[in-house]
Amino acid sequence: MFKENFVVAIDGPAGAGKSTIAKLVARKLVFAYIDTGAMYRSVTWKFLRTKAEFNENFIGELANKIRIDFRTEENKVFVDGTDVTEAIRTTAVTNLVSRISAINTVRIAMVAEQRRMGESGRVVLDGRDIGTVVFPNADVKIFLTATVEERALRRYKEMTEKGMAVSLKQLQEAILNRDKQDSEREISPLRQAKDAVFLDTSNMCIDETTDFIINLVRGKEHDLRRS
Ligand code: DC
Repeated sequence: MFKENFVVAIDGPAGAGKSTIAKLVARKLVFAYIDTGAMYRSVTWKFLRTKAEFNENFIGELANKIRIDFRTEENKVFVDGTDVTEAIRTTAVTNLVSRISAINTVRIAMVAEQRRMGESGRVVLDGRDIGTVVFPNADVKIFLTATVEERALRRYKEMTEKGMAVSLKQLQEAILNRDKQDSEREISPLRQAKDAVFLDTSNMCIDETTDFIINLVRGKEHDLRRS
């Protein structure tokens, strides 16, 4: 018998490949997948559309009212009924999302929603604070990282393959800047949970990383069945 609730938490810095890996792990294990970064990006997208000045109270209200819908089979994210899958990956959103995600009321709203979505099943979540704050009792916790050079290079390849003109140096600077903001903010900063498995993927391919995590999940399930 499988355990009905099983939470896999994958945290780590920007560009470490968390969403690629989390998606594959979820698919192979037939778990649900929740991209929590996409939720903070969705709030940022919604705020940018208002063209209003940056105001924490106003953005907190938006976060409380937003309806984020993950359509996993289609690989799409909808905000209040609009497909934002591409729109939440633009540079404008990426450059602002760390500031938006540092707002307390925004985090309270998103964390409540993440717990609600994750509580009732077998699920993989990726983000910055999943193993430390959202699900401190997660069954498996991973801290996924890679050197900043490797993370920038992966992003560079991904973007140039899509025909986008980008500078490797600028990508590296943007990643460092986001890492700094995400780890130095006051509320729920990016941290490795004490009981997380540290995984540096600088020299690991996607399959190796995915298999490593799947084996951890299977090992944990095996232990739980025996206890
Ligand atoms: O994983 P990502 O790059 O899509 O995340 C976008 C931003 O959202 C990231 O810079 C920090 C924030 N974030 C967060 O604060 N907490 C999470 N659980 C996930 C993302």
